[in-house]
Amino acid sequence: MKDRVKRIFANAKEPLDAVVIMSSVEPLLDKAFFYLTDVPSGLFEGCIAVGFPDGSLTVFSSPLETESARVAPDVTVETFTTRADQSEKLRKLLPKSLRVGLNFHDLTHENFLHLKKELPYAEIYDVTDPVRKARAVKDANEIERLRHAGKIVSRAAEAIPSLLRNGMTELELAAEVEAMMNKFGAAGRSFDTIVGFGAHSAEPHFAPTSTRLEKGMGIVCDFGALYQRYCSDLTRSFAFGQPPAELKAVHRAVEEAQRAALDVIKAGVPGREPHLAAAKLIDGTRWKGLFNHGLGHSVGLAVHDGFSMNPRTEENLEAGMVITVEPGIYVNGLGGVRIEDDVLVTEKGYEFLTTAPREYFEVGSS
Ligand code: GLY
Ligand code: MN
Ligand code: MN
Repeated sequence: MKDRVKRIFANAKEPLDAVVIMSSVEPLLDKAFFYLTDVPSGLFEGCIAVGFPDGSLTVFSSPLETESARVAPDVTVETFTTRADQSEKLRKLLPKSLRVGLNFHDLTHENFLHLKKELPYAEIYDVTDPVRKARAVKDANEIERLRHAGKIVSRAAEAIPSLLRNGMTELELAAEVEAMMNKFGAAGRSFDTIVGFGAHSAEPHFAPTSTRLEKGMGIVCDFGALYQRYCSDLTRSFAFGQPPAELKAVHRAVEEAQRAALDVIKAGVPGREPHLAAAKLIDGTRWKGLFNHGLGHSVGLAVHDGFSMNPRTEENLEAGMVITVEPGIYVNGLGGVRIEDDVLVTEKGYEFLTTAPREYFEVGSS
């Protein structure tokens, strides 16, 4: 993955001699390790990747994952036995006074202190932004995996109407949706599945409970599939039986807001514009002010992959970015509606990576 290593150096403001990525233990793994190495399997807890300006990359791997490290493209692998052995190998690779970039965003404080101690002559720089920028624009290999993750989550979304049963709990629905994703090829979920019934659906990050589904309730399901380490992220809103008339109208407004946002997406557009388009539409309705989060975010190795779209976003959209478009309206006591899709930004517009129908499903209303 020489190009990926080089991109981080190209994005850095200062000329750097090396970039050191160090993971802690699950869940404190630095996804940049997987970005640079593209290792197909393994956690690589406590492991280190060192990149150089010519694109070369050395990985200090634990014996648990050496075989996976060896199949990674363009990587020199050294297996360490103890932390002291790892430090000795690192000092040998970076022996003198060098300008070293560390990914502060995903480095634990403990590992920061450890690296400072092991590399006493290094000048340390934060490469959070260069890493974020490199990862924001996906290469062909990443787009293929994101496309597949989008297909899996879409198939699971299409199955939801057949899963809904009177009296089932939010936890049961979450488990069944996740099982569907696994059946369709997911290695797991890309984040904790959100399922909210009735008034719970008005809370955007609701964690499912043992609340039971009843006729007339709205439902929000927000979930994502992991495929070869890449994430998808999709939300669909449903009604079980006849929903309150207001909720139906809310759904129509959210659909329109999503279309308004999609209409302005293309390379070169300021990243806040799609958010502003959706917010303008919602704020022109009786639900003014009830779209209470950003329109979306970059998706990749992490479900929230660094770049986000909200009124404060300063970066422009670029071809090759993969972003979510997820407007919502949340009415306390009544319920909420969110529609979320993943799209690939192109020169001329966008391409959907998630394809499940977006119209309001009234399930079991007969
Ligand atoms: N799953 C949280 C989100 O959609 O960003
Ligand atoms: Mn989501
Ligand atoms: Mn999202």
